[in-house]
Order: sequence, then structure tokens, then C-alpha cells
Amino acid sequence: MASPGPTRKHADEMDDRIASGLLTWYDTNHRELPWRMPPRDLAKGLKPDPYRIWLSEIMLQQTTVEAVKPYFRAFLEKWPDVASLAEAEAEDVMKAWAGLGYYSRARNLKACAETVAAQHGNRFPDTEAGLRALPGIGPYTAAAIASIAFNRPAAVVDGNVERVVTRLFSIATPLPEAKPEIRAHVERMLAASRPGDFAQAMMDLGATICTPRRPRCMLCPLREDCSAIANGDPEFYPVKPPKAEKPARRGAAFVAVAPDGSVLLRKRPGKGLLGGMTEVPTTGWTARVDGATGVEAAPFPADWRRSGSITHVFTHFALELDVFRADLPSQPALDDHFWSAAEALNGEALPTVMKKVIEAAIPGATKRGR
Ligand code: ADE
Repeated sequence: MASPGPTRKHADEMDDRIASGLLTWYDTNHRELPWRMPPRDLAKGLKPDPYRIWLSEIMLQQTTVEAVKPYFRAFLEKWPDVASLAEAEAEDVMKAWAGLGYYSRARNLKACAETVAAQHGNRFPDTEAGLRALPGIGPYTAAAIASIAFNRPAAVVDGNVERVVTRLFSIATPLPEAKPEIRAHVERMLAASRPGDFAQAMMDLGATICTPRRPRCMLCPLREDCSAIANGDPEFYPVKPPKAEKPARRGAAFVAVAPDGSVLLRKRPGKGLLGGMTEVPTTGWTARVDGATGVEAAPFPADWRRSGSITHVFTHFALELDVFRADLPSQPALDDHFWSAAEALNGEALPTVMKKVIEAAIPGATKRGR
């Protein structure tokens, strides 16, 4: 006869033990993050500011905590609440976002602030469904805000949580098929009393102990209940399908420099990749290597000299750009282009790929005045 699985009672006890062990660990081991209200403040009855939680969650989509911190602080200083962000110039928001990547987030951020101001009296909705109706808020972000800002018992499942849960329960089903099973576990474990802290504790455990490589299991508050430790190979989980290689694209970028050091720039179309951001003139970025992606395709004749090449990896392709620089004798006016003074470059809405291009042609140019 097959051995019976754990009884429901046994499983319930385990879920409760995991939740309370995790929260006890979080009380003393949580990360101090600029957007976070720590358990000691929540215990005093203070409430998290939904604006800060929302702003941080949008910034943290696909971006690391360390990269987000300075941007979060700069945004809060410029726009301390949703009303001020709703009234900001869209161009200023793009400039402040420059370098953080995934620029549709910045456009949606502005649209969301405007909606919250105009339709919700500057107050964020406090349910997952209400939050999901806002621009830029998908199921994950709605759950994160509902739980962290409003203490709703929402299941917050990101990559960290997937790793922790697949290890805890030895879930060998590959992702993404394993997602429903992972979610079911999280829903069962959720600490009804402190769902926001539970979500953040899972994130912190995944980021600091249950790491992708060389997890620090000796320090883990859940090691007694972890099935992967019992089986001897936590790093085996989560099982992922092999990564497809990214297609390569190539092109050329042109850094025109005026006698006073100004650089010629233009704005990208509002929609699509890097939509609304600023760039130097470039060729198209294509999989072919032909005359349309070399110096022959410069925006105007000049003494273009090669300053090297840069690479940048986007979500769906890897880009290599040959960089050409021309030092012009004057500062010609060109339709749909503008000249940015050397000191102003670092405040332009330049995405990281363009900062790399300009740095290749003019070392130090995008770092002045920081
Ligand atoms: N990743 C996504 N949301 C996060 C948060 N609130 N804290 C830390 N890491 C996160």
C-alpha cells in the first residue's frame, strides 16, 4: 500500500509553523529599506504610506533593490506624494527615471498618479481588484501593494518566493507549470494576522538566505521544515526550462559634438522600446549587417571617427552598436534634433544604452555634475 501523505492536520500545523517561524525571523532580521515600514513601527500602530509602497513596487519590477534605492529617494524628494507626481511634467518624470530601464513603467507611473488624483481623490484603492484597474499595475504588483500597504491577505509570488516555496516543498515541476502549486502553498501559509510582513519576510528570506546559489541553510529559520534540505540538494530547485539564447542585433550610433562640447540628441517615438526617451542619432537596429547599419548611414556627412562599440542586453535581444564621433566646426540646427550642453547631458532622459554610447565617444560626459 502506498504510504499516506501528510494528513491535513499535519500540513496545517506545518503551514502555521512556517508562517510564525518566518515572522519571528523577520522581526529581527528584516532588511531596512527606504520604502519599508519595519515591524517595530507597525507595532506602534503606524500605517505604511501607499504612495511609497506603490512607487517602490513599480520600480522593483524587474529591477534590483540596490538599483532602485537612489531612484526611490530622488523621486520622493521631487514628488513626495501622489498629488505632486500627478502634476509633474511627463518629461521630468522620464528624466528622473533615466537609467532604471523598462521605460513604459515611467509612462504608466505618471498615468497611474493622474488616475489616482483625478478619480480616487489622491487615495490608492485598498483592494487587489481596485489596484489592478490602474495603469501599470498587474496581478503581482496589485497583490504586493494590497498586502504591504493595506495588510490584505493577498498571495505575493515573485521569483524569490518561487525559489523559497519550491525548496520548502521539493516541487520538481518546472516553472512556469509549477506556478499554481506554488501559489496554493503561499495562500495556505499566509499569516492572516500580518500578511504584509509575511510577504516581505518571504522576499527577504529569498534575497538573503534562500539565494539562488549557495543558500545559507544553516541560518534559515525554516530549515526544520524544508524538504529540499532533507533531500540534500536545495540548489536543484526551482526547476526552470533552458533559457533561449537572445537574438543579436547591430547598428551604429553617432555622437556629434559642437565646439562648446554640446551633443546632438533627439527624442524617440512615445511608444515602443525606450519610448519617449532621448538618444543620439542611430541607424536602425537589425539582425542584418549591411550598409544601413554602418557609418554610411550617418545622419549627415562629417568626419565621423569610430570610438569603439558598446553592447547592451534588452529583454528580447542583445544589441551591439558601433559608436562614431564627429567634432563639428559649428552647431547646425537639424529638424527634430536638439543640442544638449555638456553640463546638461546628465539630466537628459538618456537610457543606459545611450549613456554607454556617449561615454564611449566622450569619456565622463554623462557623469558630470553628479
Ligand atoms: N521586490 C519586489 N517588491 C519588493 C519589496 N517590497 N521589498 C524588497 N524586494 C522587493
